[in-house]
Amino acid sequence: MLTKIKNIFIVLLLVLIVTQFLRPEKNRGSYDTIASFEEATAMPEEVKTILQNNCYDCHSNTTRYPWFMEVSPVTHYMAYQIEDGKKHFNISAWESYTDTEKDHKLEELIGEIEYKKMPLKPYTWIHGELSGSDAKTLIGWVKELREKAKNPPVDSINVQNPDSTVVDSLQKQRVSAVY
Ligand code: HEC
Repeated sequence: MLTKIKNIFIVLLLVLIVTQFLRPEKNRGSYDTIASFEEATAMPEEVKTILQNNCYDCHSNTTRYPWFMEVSPVTHYMAYQIEDGKKHFNISAWESYTDTEKDHKLEELIGEIEYKKMPLKPYTWIHGELSGSDAKTLIGWVKELREKAKNPPVDSINVQNPDSTVVDSLQKQRVSAVY
């Protein structure tokens, strides 16, 4: 029995050592893509900090890599979460979403925070939970942004011809004026 446990332990140790050398590709794009999201949404500094500390690591092309993220199996686990997270919501790809998609992502974001699903659990063991006040700030800002996109201030709309036939394109212009 004891030798069996010892053998399993040795195999696990070997796997751990070998996987240290099998490094997944890093998610290290430039911050420019995030900056254009921040600019397009006129994001306040406070919200920027919350997203930087809790969300961008898995939802953008720019992940921070503290030393423990370099170690297997953490590095493999994170690579998987980043890939999956970006598939669902990638802030670096914000410009490529349609206005409807943008609105839908923001709606989902509110739900994920309200139901305390994000940031993902194992991540918070290291980075800490999203505090109640940060959650409130983030949700408040996202709700405001969605409202603004639906009812933009009149001066941001270029109304030259408020004809009913151009209502559709006008609606589009209104949304783009905000995002
Ligand atoms: C450790 C990686 C990680 C972190 C950090 C993280 N997420 Fe996620 N997120 C994921 C993964 C993986 C998914 C897709 C699977 C799922 O929904 O659980 C996801 C899904 C989402 C979705 C899309 C849900 C859907 O229905 O498609 C939104 C929106 C989201 N996260 C927002 C956030 C926000 C906001 C933060 C920061 C407060 C955050 N996430 C932090 C990994 C992460």
